Amino acid sequence: MAPTDRADRLRLGVNIDHVATVRNARGTPYPDPLRAALLAEQAGADGITAHLREDRRHITDADIAALAGRLSAPLNLEMAATEEMRAIALRHVPHAVCLVPERRAERTTEGGLDVAADAVRLRDYIAPLVEAGCRVSLFIAPDADQVDAAAEIGAAVVELHTGAYCDLHLEGDGEGRDAELARIEAMARRAVAAGLEVHAGHGLTYDTVGPVAAIAQMTELNIGHFLIADALFRGLSGTIAQMRRAMDAARLAA
Ligand code: PXP
Repeated sequence: MAPTDRADRLRLGVNIDHVATVRNARGTPYPDPLRAALLAEQAGADGITAHLREDRRHITDADIAALAGRLSAPLNLEMAATEEMRAIALRHVPHAVCLVPERRAERTTEGGLDVAADAVRLRDYIAPLVEAGCRVSLFIAPDADQVDAAAEIGAAVVELHTGAYCDLHLEGDGEGRDAELARIEAMARRAVAAGLEVHAGHGLTYDTVGPVAAIAQMTELNIGHFLIADALFRGLSGTIAQMRRAMDAARLAA
């Protein structure tokens, strides 16, 4: 099968959180994360990912309702394993729920979920989500204990945290980066052997995506911050040109 064939290709989940970050910085209705998600669908995204944080610093409850109601692509709802979030997930029944650890002071999701230490609670926690038809994914560090625990508690998917790999790349530590990549690859193999589907994400850029995308066991990558950042440079000229035209047209009409 050719690598571009649908069944064989690696899915791209586009995370639209940081469209909401820009919106919330001003309290305006724009830019609208739903509009970005619909554009992402048209551009070939295989899914849309949104993280409803407990502090609602970017995506809001209304965004999740709009995404759940309007998207054609599968919605992957990222959330902390709290009662409040589970009730929201059960209200919308997104295609997937990805459980992530959350600390209020963090800038982004800094570590993986400690499934091994919280296995009993998490098994009970995910049961109603699985029952409702959500594919439950656990965002974990590429670590054998975490992979094994995820399989034991009945998750369908693990998302391997690529943040450390990407940070080491940015720090110029090629040896450390390659060691972390080898861990990701080994844990992808281990997860598939345990019956889990394997996704990955966090911090990926054009420079770091290649080696992760090449891992045969990988079925989906979730990418957000860099896509929104790079879109500025791909779109800014057109936006400025449109503002120029609007100003010139107003002067001409005056
Ligand atoms: N996957 C998970 C589980 C995440 O929490 C995040 C960040 O919200 C991402 C992927 C996307 O990371 P980034 O925005 O750095 O591409």
